[in-house]
Amino acid sequence: MARQPVGVLGATSLVGVCLQQLLPENNWDVMAFSRQPITTRNTAHITWRQLAQPSAPDRANEKIDLWICAAPIWVLPEHFKLLSSYGIKRIVTLSSTSCITKKESTDASEQKIVQQLIEGESRVTAWAAANQIEWIILRPTLIYGLGRDKNISEIVRFIRRFGFFPLFGKATGLRQPIHARDVAATCIYTLKALNLKNRTYNLTGGETLSYREMVRRIFLALDRKPRLVTLPFWFFHWAVIAMRCLPRYRHWNSAMAARMNQDLVFDSTELQRQLNCSSGPFLLSAEDLP
Ligand SMILES: NC(=O)c1ccc[n+]([C@@H]2O[C@H](COP(=O)([O-])OP(=O)(O)OC[C@H]3O[C@@H](n4cnc5c(N)ncnc54)[C@H](OP(=O)(O)O)[C@@H]3O)[C@@H](O)[C@H]2O)c1
Repeated sequence: MARQPVGVLGATSLVGVCLQQLLPENNWDVMAFSRQPITTRNTAHITWRQLAQPSAPDRANEKIDLWICAAPIWVLPEHFKLLSSYGIKRIVTLSSTSCITKKESTDASEQKIVQQLIEGESRVTAWAAANQIEWIILRPTLIYGLGRDKNISEIVRFIRRFGFFPLFGKATGLRQPIHARDVAATCIYTLKALNLKNRTYNLTGGETLSYREMVRRIFLALDRKPRLVTLPFWFFHWAVIAMRCLPRYRHWNSAMAARMNQDLVFDSTELQRQLNCSSGPFLLSAEDLP
């Protein structure tokens, strides 16, 4: 079967790294973009290109119809001109269910991300509609994997450092973590499913479990006895303020604690039925630990 070209923005991201593996294995020739110069890593089926500064002219001399964006959706508008110069016809781009789950967050930085996601989505759909480009936005739930994510890996580091993990209340809020490889695979299936276009889909992991159970499984993956310490909210609030003095925990906030008891649950059965694929359960292997 002839190999097909695909452009990937955000090719160095966690999902992008999984795309770097899956796309060549599935007969795609990848043009991978980064702001960094990475030409030394060219392989038989991946060619790296450095993104020009937004103000510089892009000189594309190849045509690439199909694109995946695994960079934050709000940076995509910076590259509309580049994509148009390649003659883009169809794009699958990642957003996040955070634009729904963090909408009511009391934390200013989370509010900013929600705004960026919402504006990013609307700029992408308006641009695509104006240029007859087919678009699919996938909104994954919590992404984990390869020890590179900002959720599970952070819990792992905390447990390794302090030997316990603090929970607020019963921490029964439901979660559907999805492995980055499943997100990447779904991007590829969606790109090929030409009957799907101009829609936004939520994308979940294959298992729904409570926040408490998720943390318990992380202890087990680390081969440790689970030590879950339940804290009252006021204590959590002040502990978070203290933790924020450490650079690694600067982005922690008490809204995170409040969410431990909220169900953040979505349905991606329609998408997965149409693509004839499914996501795996929450499983942490050695390669997923930082
Ligand atoms: N982490 C989660 O739990 C989660 C959940 C749901 C959705 N998502 C979404 O999934 C996607 C990937 O997330 P991630 O955590 O894997 O990302 P990440 O590791 O933070 O990587 C960010 C990527 O974006 C690229 N990038 C950043 N600014 C850019 C710009 N101005 N122009 C071009 N590229 C730029 C970076 O490329 P270079 O540095 O190489 O240029 C890098 O590849 C994002 O869209 C995110 O919103 C994440």
